[in-house]
Amino acid sequence: MERVSVLCLSLLVCSLSGAEPQDIEQRKVSPESVNVPEPQPCPSDLHTVLREMSVKLAENRLMIQQLQTLNQEQAAKLKEVDTHQQAQASELKSLKTRTNVTENQVESLRRDRAVGQVAFSTSLLASGSGTIGPFNTVTNLVFRYVISNIGNAYSPNTGFFTAPVRGAYHFELHIYGPNASGAWLVKNGEHICIAWENQTNGHGKASNGATLLLEPGDVVFVRQYANSVIQDNGNHHSTFSGHLLFPM
Ligand SMILES: *[C@@H]1O[C@H](CO)[C@@H](O)[C@H](O)[C@H]1NC(C)=O
Ligand SMILES: *[C@@H]1O[C@H](CO)[C@@H](O)[C@H](O)[C@H]1NC(C)=O
Ligand SMILES: *[C@@H]1O[C@H](CO)[C@@H](O)[C@H](O)[C@H]1NC(C)=O
Repeated sequence: MERVSVLCLSLLVCSLSGAEPQDIEQRKVSPESVNVPEPQPCPSDLHTVLREMSVKLAENRLMIQQLQTLNQEQAAKLKEVDTHQQAQASELKSLKTRTNVTENQVESLRRDRAVGQVAFSTSLLASGSGTIGPFNTVTNLVFRYVISNIGNAYSPNTGFFTAPVRGAYHFELHIYGPNASGAWLVKNGEHICIAWENQTNGHGKASNGATLLLEPGDVVFVRQYANSVIQDNGNHHSTFSGHLLFPM
């Protein structure tokens, strides 16, 4: 731009300095006296300027090319940075998800630990000495004497143990009585195993136990065998016990 205005100025100066003396001379002297005009410095200056401009133009073109190359390089670098940032963002997201999973697991473990203290032992009669049965059908038993009831998962009013968490639980029953004496370990109405004895002389005792995988809310209790008699007293002969082995 600057170069162009300089050129215009040069041309203007040139045309002025070229024409004016001629006009003046034409007016003042005869045409014969000016048939060979003095060589003007302008054309050679013009060439110089044009040459310089050409050089500058070439330089500028080169500079533009270099700038374009630089631009492309920087664009490529920017893209690389962008890709890197995207990778980092996705990594961050997955890290956050994993952190959340870990936090949930810790929370779940904390909860399991809090409700993981489940253990109880009971015997049949709340007090005194006595027998239950015989009945001509199976009958649910309520073990009314509580030896221990950690976690309160057993109810001495209903005889039901209700699983508070998913896990492996162990139960056992000891059934004492005269003649025929027996009871089932029952899970949600399903007979798991029986403690059973029948003898003709004096008293006998039967035992059994099982480890069960329980879901929260599953119910475990004891059901008396039909036509059997179960006895208990202050010595707590007939007992029903259970505890959580580990949550799952
Ligand atoms: C974390 O996990 C919980 C339970 O799975 C879910 O409800 C919650 O939306 C998750 N939060 C994030 C930020 O992923
Ligand atoms: C046990 O059986 C015998 C006879 O088999 C009977 O005489 C006795 O009364 C029974 N005992 C009880 C406690 O039911
Ligand atoms: C127990 O055994 C006796 C003698 O064998 C039998 O008569 C009785 O029916 C049995 N009791 C039960 C409940 O099975």
